[in-house]
Amino acid sequence: MTTPLKTNFVEADAEAIGTLEGRLVAFITSEGTMDPLAKRVDRLTKKALTRLAESDGFAKGKAGSSHVLNFPAGLAAESVQVIKLARKPSAADARKAGAAIAKAGLRKPVTVLAGPLGSVADLSLGLTLRAYDFDAYRTNQDEGEDKKPGLISEVTVMVKDPEAAQAAAAPLVAQAEGVVFTRDLVNEPANVLTTTEFADRLAGLRELGVEVEILEEDDLEKLGMRTLLAVGMGSETPSKVVVMQWNGGGDEAPFALVGKGVVFDTGGISIKPSGGMEEMTMDMGGAGVVSGVMKTVAMRKAKANVVGLVGLVENMPDGKAQRPGDVVKTMKGDTVEVINTDAEGRLVLADVLWYTQERFKPSAMVDLATLTGAVIIALGHENAGVFSNDDDFAEAFLKAAKSEEEGAWRLPLGAAYDKQIKSRIADIANVGGRPAGSITAAQFLQRFVKKDVPWIHLDIAGVAYVAKGTELSNKGATGWGVRALDRLIQDRYEG
Ligand code: BES
Ligand code: MN
Ligand code: ZN
Repeated sequence: MTTPLKTNFVEADAEAIGTLEGRLVAFITSEGTMDPLAKRVDRLTKKALTRLAESDGFAKGKAGSSHVLNFPAGLAAESVQVIKLARKPSAADARKAGAAIAKAGLRKPVTVLAGPLGSVADLSLGLTLRAYDFDAYRTNQDEGEDKKPGLISEVTVMVKDPEAAQAAAAPLVAQAEGVVFTRDLVNEPANVLTTTEFADRLAGLRELGVEVEILEEDDLEKLGMRTLLAVGMGSETPSKVVVMQWNGGGDEAPFALVGKGVVFDTGGISIKPSGGMEEMTMDMGGAGVVSGVMKTVAMRKAKANVVGLVGLVENMPDGKAQRPGDVVKTMKGDTVEVINTDAEGRLVLADVLWYTQERFKPSAMVDLATLTGAVIIALGHENAGVFSNDDDFAEAFLKAAKSEEEGAWRLPLGAAYDKQIKSRIADIANVGGRPAGSITAAQFLQRFVKKDVPWIHLDIAGVAYVAKGTELSNKGATGWGVRALDRLIQDRYEG
């Protein structure tokens, strides 16, 4: 498991700047002004920063852009990275600046001269998220251990008041830990992250005070979760539901998170084409986000009751696998005709959603799933699909996602789509044809949501895992949604 990069806060010491080794990071505002620490660097380098601030290159750059001055005369440091920043940077600007520090490389000790610039917590979050690299399986035997690309040295941030900075950073350190937990789960290949290994890692959250219960196949059978069990019938790794509870909010009804945790999706008997199938190791992305949020709320001791439930299964073709045409009864009691065994996520979620409501009577419920390829056709990799039965709740989530810069776009639900998922012989079919594939999937799920429960379904197939890096994420798992949901919990339940 990856240890997130930690930043240490120390008291600003202008005198020490000349003797610090590695890289220094200094800030110049868009107006060209410098804080005392940057001024000290400017003085020691005989006005190198002033010249940079007055250059065309600096003028053209946006807030967050950076310049690296190598082997600067007057300093022991190897380089100075100068970042342009608004005088009062927004949280997003500060995260971008942090990402710029990580992008410039972290192989040498880095000292960030944050001085009185503020927003250091967000800067440190951006740095940690951008520095993440899933390098567990890169042995670099040929080059030697010190060539490991992810090898990170220390990052020290000089601030006026280290204790205050540390305290302000704590909730964001918890967010970073949650995001890294999610990314590790999602990046992990399916031969390692079986349902059993997944459940074991979640059991590790007990150390943080999360109550963790692991429901095994015989428990699930007793509960009647037959559509979930049907998906896992072809696999050697046993189906499980893991229930995580964080009780920080007294006796109010909990906020519930439900995640699709298909540890590998071959499509089952309706097998997928082989091209790109390896990406289906990320089909537990919804469960990964639920797990990351649980870790975050526990680490920051959130004053809210949050339950997270994940359905862990593997979708394999086998003599014991379910077939197209099978009719299976859900825990709710509705029967489903399984037209396509590759539309398995909704079968898993139908039972876990129902169980969550029956057991916990949540005040609101959000499910996350890498549910449909169609959502990638609709929204690409920039936005997750948002579906909801409650406008206020949906608005609150969209606002939280926006403030965390996690793309989210609402798509409609509507009874008219139900005709596409009518079955000849059962109550409902598990697929609705090509048109509006993400909406018919959401309509299927809505059938398992009780009328009075505010609910959001997030189809994260396009955003959970990206082939190209984003501002705050390397390529691979992004951890999309952990920060937006943590913000939503803060805004709605801890306000
Ligand atoms: N896990 C896939 C959806 C998916 C596709 C996630 C691409 C990430 C990237 C899901 O189980 C699936 O196979 N959906 C089918 C549904 C269809 C059979 C109705 C799909 O999208 O093709
Ligand atoms: Mn599938
Ligand atoms: Zn799937």
